[in-house]
Amino acid sequence: MSDSIKTIAILGGTGDLGGGLARQWSRAGYTIVIGSRTLEKGQEAAAALLTEFPDLNVTGLDNPAAAEQADLVVLTVPFAHQLSTLDSVKHALIGKVLIDVTVPLVPPKVGTVQMPASGSAGQQAQDHLGEDVFVVSAFQNVGAMHLQEDHSIACDVLVTGNKRAARDTVITLIEALGLKGEERVLEIGTGSGYQTAIIAELARQVFTIERLNNLSRKAQKILEGLNYMKIVFKMFDGTYGWPDQAPFDAILITASAREIPESLIKQLGDGGRLVAPTGEADKQKLVLLTKSGDRVSRRDLCDCKFVPLIGKYGWSQ
Ligand SMILES: NC(=O)c1ccc[n+]([C@@H]2O[C@H](COP(=O)([O-])OP(=O)(O)OC[C@H]3O[C@@H](n4cnc5c(N)ncnc54)[C@H](OP(=O)(O)O)[C@@H]3O)[C@@H](O)[C@H]2O)c1
Repeated sequence: MSDSIKTIAILGGTGDLGGGLARQWSRAGYTIVIGSRTLEKGQEAAAALLTEFPDLNVTGLDNPAAAEQADLVVLTVPFAHQLSTLDSVKHALIGKVLIDVTVPLVPPKVGTVQMPASGSAGQQAQDHLGEDVFVVSAFQNVGAMHLQEDHSIACDVLVTGNKRAARDTVITLIEALGLKGEERVLEIGTGSGYQTAIIAELARQVFTIERLNNLSRKAQKILEGLNYMKIVFKMFDGTYGWPDQAPFDAILITASAREIPESLIKQLGDGGRLVAPTGEADKQKLVLLTKSGDRVSRRDLCDCKFVPLIGKYGWSQ
């Protein structure tokens, strides 16, 4: 269970998919608010779940009140009502993550997906809500009936965000770190804070350094607003690392230098892993360093292109 997300609102949680998600997440320990167009229907759905599992933390509200109460909001209504439902809760979504499960099915041909002009239902939601809401599209491939039964579900969940290249890179970087939940991680280059949040979900503590004040402040404001309490922010030249807090179990550098700064390799603990883009300004490799005692082994993962790592032990500008 994530530390930062405690209350999840499921808009349209009276339906098949939303009801299944409410069942699974409430049983995993989250506080669930089932949203509906009417308060009574939301309350009825919550009461039905509580009859079966009296100890769960589940309530029912109308959609706007449910969205207001939650740290994270999930939209589970038919495609035809996606935008009108979002309009009814728009203000309560600002600064939050919205998981959109909508499959663009348009009656009467509900057997065929009909993509909207924006390209996907998730993109349509993001365009409609603007940049202040973090739309993630997921669960389209999970059948409601599986969520309503209490057996394990052997399938991957597709997760998409609005910036494909950034998302793919983030996934590669994070997988390469091999995080298991107990690590202290140093991140050089906070940027928007998106990747910092993902690492925080996978590790024990994240120390993140950003040299640009406005970026660091903005990311800190958003992530603290989302209750990410295990991230420590610093505005400084990241090429120095964070010697006071070393050694780290993992170090992630999100900008490229010709060579990985020794100052950072030194701060990696025994058995630690460091991932960084390395090479010339226009052509780089994503490199994984693994430390074992005094030995550091290197593996090239893939070609990549990152912004330059600027600082005392990186590029000058
Ligand atoms: N069913 C699946 O297996 C499955 C799998 C993957 C993805 N999905 C996607 O998940 C979403 C929900 O699917 P579902 O099968 O759970 O749908 P559903 O049971 O037909 O409807 C879900 C809820 O939507 C609300 N709703 C109905 N008409 C509405 C309207 N005019 N305006 C606002 N809300 C309305 C209702 O809640 P209230 O009456 O309480 O407001 C209803 O309980 C869809 O976008 C679907 O594509 C479904």
